[in-house]
Amino acid sequence: MPDKILLLPDNIANQIAAGEVIQRPASAVKELLENAVDAGATEIRLIVSDSGKSLLQVIDNGSGMSETDARMCFERHATSKITSIEDLFHIRTMGFRGEALASIAAVAQVELKTRRAEDETGIYIEVENSMVKRQEPVAAPAGTSIAMKNLFFNVPARRNFLKSNAVEMRHIVDEFTRVSLAFPRIFFSLTSNGQQVFHLEAGSLKQRITQLLGSSYQSKLVTVKEETDYMNIQGFVGKPETAKKTRGEQYFFINNRFIKSAYLNHAVMSAYQDMIAADSFPMYVLFIELDPAVVDVNVHPTKQEIKFEDEKIVYAFVQAAVKHALAQFSVTPTLDFELDASIQQLPAIQQPFTEEKKNAAASSHLFKGFTQKNQAHFIDSGQKTGLKSWKEFYDPQPVPSGGTRITSSQQDAAAGKQLPAQEIPGHRTIAEDAEITQLMNTYIVAPSSGGFLLIHQQSAHERILYEQLSAASRNRPIATQRSMFPSTIELAPTDAMILDELLADLADLGYAIEHFGKNSYVIQGTPADLETGSEKHVIDLLIEQYKHFNPDLKFSKREKLIRSLSRQQAVKAGTRLTEREMKHLLQNLWNCTQPNTTPDGNPTYLEFKQEQLERMFGR
Ligand SMILES: Nc1ncnc2c1ncn2[C@@H]1O[C@H](COP(=O)(O)OP(=O)(O)OP(=O)(O)O)[C@@H](O)[C@H]1O
Ligand SMILES: [Mg+2]
Repeated sequence: MPDKILLLPDNIANQIAAGEVIQRPASAVKELLENAVDAGATEIRLIVSDSGKSLLQVIDNGSGMSETDARMCFERHATSKITSIEDLFHIRTMGFRGEALASIAAVAQVELKTRRAEDETGIYIEVENSMVKRQEPVAAPAGTSIAMKNLFFNVPARRNFLKSNAVEMRHIVDEFTRVSLAFPRIFFSLTSNGQQVFHLEAGSLKQRITQLLGSSYQSKLVTVKEETDYMNIQGFVGKPETAKKTRGEQYFFINNRFIKSAYLNHAVMSAYQDMIAADSFPMYVLFIELDPAVVDVNVHPTKQEIKFEDEKIVYAFVQAAVKHALAQFSVTPTLDFELDASIQQLPAIQQPFTEEKKNAAASSHLFKGFTQKNQAHFIDSGQKTGLKSWKEFYDPQPVPSGGTRITSSQQDAAAGKQLPAQEIPGHRTIAEDAEITQLMNTYIVAPSSGGFLLIHQQSAHERILYEQLSAASRNRPIATQRSMFPSTIELAPTDAMILDELLADLADLGYAIEHFGKNSYVIQGTPADLETGSEKHVIDLLIEQYKHFNPDLKFSKREKLIRSLSRQQAVKAGTRLTEREMKHLLQNLWNCTQPNTTPDGNPTYLEFKQEQLERMFGR
């Protein structure tokens, strides 16, 4: 076989904007795994130490490289995957820019060992600061091994910018999950600090999903599969009961490439309408196949949102396919419509992609930069869709579960002003004989001097628990009640990694949980004052809540944990309380150092003064 890598001619290279390809270990994981997939490997192993900061290695049994190619692959714009502009319209490989290895070689020490099946000996190359340091023949199995050592050794500022090992590892697992989900027929493994985290035998997509996302999905997946001349979709969505409070397990792939698309996500969400709670997220793993000529694997490097031009067709197709799948699985078919008819009528399907359209596309912004490959949008005809407004529409700010968020303007209108903290001294008490009432099983009305208070029971309880848990984690641990019949739980590998991080802190907060086998845990005990019997549910919820706070990097791990726990354990809106319980709650609230807000800063109560009320009534 001849050498395969060529340098892209300048006219193409210039169309491909050089981007920041390697930002963190996980970026290298994505690039190296994709290279192994493109090399036709059937087995791919990822090995990391210190979350990829000291070592990140990918070993594959793919095509390997010749001696010349092995030297060439570290050059910028050196690729075997495209040779002409025309090829950009038919990309079937994951890579095409010839940038990834050059970028890695610029920021780490790289060791490459590779051999083609037809060559007797392999080649070993060491690269540092983009320069070949050493090269020699070597005995090696057919395939390629690339080890990236000491990432950012020559850019200390970037190295310092890396997050904790736990955070970087989670990014690595995310990338690993995305690539290995897309190629279930390939064996993948991930070893971290000598321990095997994933061992994914080649198999069906369904097997891959349960291996990666947890066996609880085993009987909870609904098959999605529709084919048309224009596009195909296949994959799985979770049954409505598997919907979660965080949007973690949602995967779209276009021509096997993972993409983030809030727009397509909305299509799936709308198919679930009325089947799941408004603030919950269904799991899905969906593969869309389209002629590569109508997909632009290219988006402005810094902008996270994507633009669609002829997006309606894809949206309608995804929505209809998911609705159809859900209707078929549900016992009572509540959705009655003909999928094929509704899709086939869409104009874009009736008019196939013509040469003319293709030429129009060729002069579009397709060539304006190929940097961020995990996003896709469609050929731009110049007519831009205003995404911002509807991004807000389907991407609401998280609202505490069951809680009512009162905006400050509403609050101002209702109460005249928000209570400043200094007006809430610890001197509020609740008199023995005070008349207090519960409204709508959610609010407590209690007298105050010169008016009354309207207390949100869940918000108030969140504040109380938050302060109690904070105190417990500072000085004295909360007592644990040992279960007579400890329950075991089995978690998805990523969730298990989160729980591992939290075990020590959880112990201080009264949770006795022990690691037991791979992703299994035994719950030996829970906080003494917590209802027993639903330990598994409690842990599931806790991990959900914890993920919910995760993007908030400003909080420490412990702070996040405490916030999650107080949310989770707080008495919910809609719960009937006895008078004693209400008094107890208020007493505890007034004992708090900051009784007037939840940990998130929402009010726990509003005060209505008589004179304000009089004014409002025009008296
Ligand atoms: N694991 C591998 N096995 C065989 N060949 C490889 C492997 N990794 C890289 N190569 C060769 O090296 C070339 C350069 O790889 P690199 O990742 O830098 O660019 P690319 O994959 O072509 O494009 P992109 O920058 O978009 O990833 C590839 O085109 C391929 O020919
Ligand atoms: Mg590549």
